[in-house]
Amino acid sequence: MIIDVVGAGSLGLLYGGKLQTSGISVRFWTRTSVQAGQLKQEGMTIMEKDREIHIRPDEIQAYPASQLANVWNEKPGDWILLTVKQTHIDDFIEQTATLTVESRQSLKIACYQNGLGHLEKLQAAFSNAWLCSAITTEGAKRTGGKVCRAGYAETLLGVSKRSTKANAEIVDEQQIFTLAKVMQQAGFDCTVSNEIDKPIYRKLLINAVINPLTAIWRIPNGELLHKKERISIMRQLCDEAMNVYKAMNVQLEGDMWDQIQGVCRGTASNTSSMLADVLHKRTTEVESINGSIIRMAKEFNLKVPTHEMLFHLIQGMQSEGVS
Ligand code: PAF
Repeated sequence: MIIDVVGAGSLGLLYGGKLQTSGISVRFWTRTSVQAGQLKQEGMTIMEKDREIHIRPDEIQAYPASQLANVWNEKPGDWILLTVKQTHIDDFIEQTATLTVESRQSLKIACYQNGLGHLEKLQAAFSNAWLCSAITTEGAKRTGGKVCRAGYAETLLGVSKRSTKANAEIVDEQQIFTLAKVMQQAGFDCTVSNEIDKPIYRKLLINAVINPLTAIWRIPNGELLHKKERISIMRQLCDEAMNVYKAMNVQLEGDMWDQIQGVCRGTASNTSSMLADVLHKRTTEVESINGSIIRMAKEFNLKVPTHEMLFHLIQGMQSEGVS
């Protein structure tokens, strides 16, 4: 089996590295040729609680994503794990513009997502591809060629109900089970869910509360709970989003407010992905996170003023030197 990992950030390297160690042929697709060159020169190390995995430079297949279509047209892979941020989905679509009709029909993409909107873009670009959503609580930190796995977490794969009817009908669920099995063999707690939208909405809500606030206050996740003023804004964000979910008839298990606080405690020392983007002057995913809540609220004529305010504050930060 050939798995193409598009996006060699910490998550992409973690999945790709472990899949490769389990015997899968993995091709890494990086944003620049310098990054591909570095991987091939340095190899990579995955550090887990109980072991270290080393992949030698000569064992790495890494290419700039601009070559993806050419290589794929010659030698198609079995699955693409799309681990890029929402902000790079358009680049991926552009990079694959020269895929042949045949290649497009055989594309199977598992799309890792933090917010919403990926699926809609991919469906518009690849009407015949099989698209499945991937939601994970895996976390990893990358320093050069070293990837440190945060802990053992869960990955869910499934076809979203937000998929167009055409996409949902062509996806062969058996192939998703095969991918899940391959992931399990590589050491991931991976299962197929026929209710993938629930974890998608759950993650969206958690991110919509934690991410913008940590990015504005520049604090690790756990510190959100250290002041009553912070907790009160978190609560407003949670209540506004839950109101939208109620109108949409999205039902999530358990008390979401408790769960959000639980994530803050469980990831207390983490730098949220949005804070990391702000600190590195990268475009954030606010558009697909709080932006999605705002768009869904509009559909139901609901007001989400705290999300709107934070959305604009984060967008305002981005224009200062962020592409
Ligand atoms: O985006 C993130 O950083 C994570 O999803 C979360 C849950 C906020 C933890 O850092």
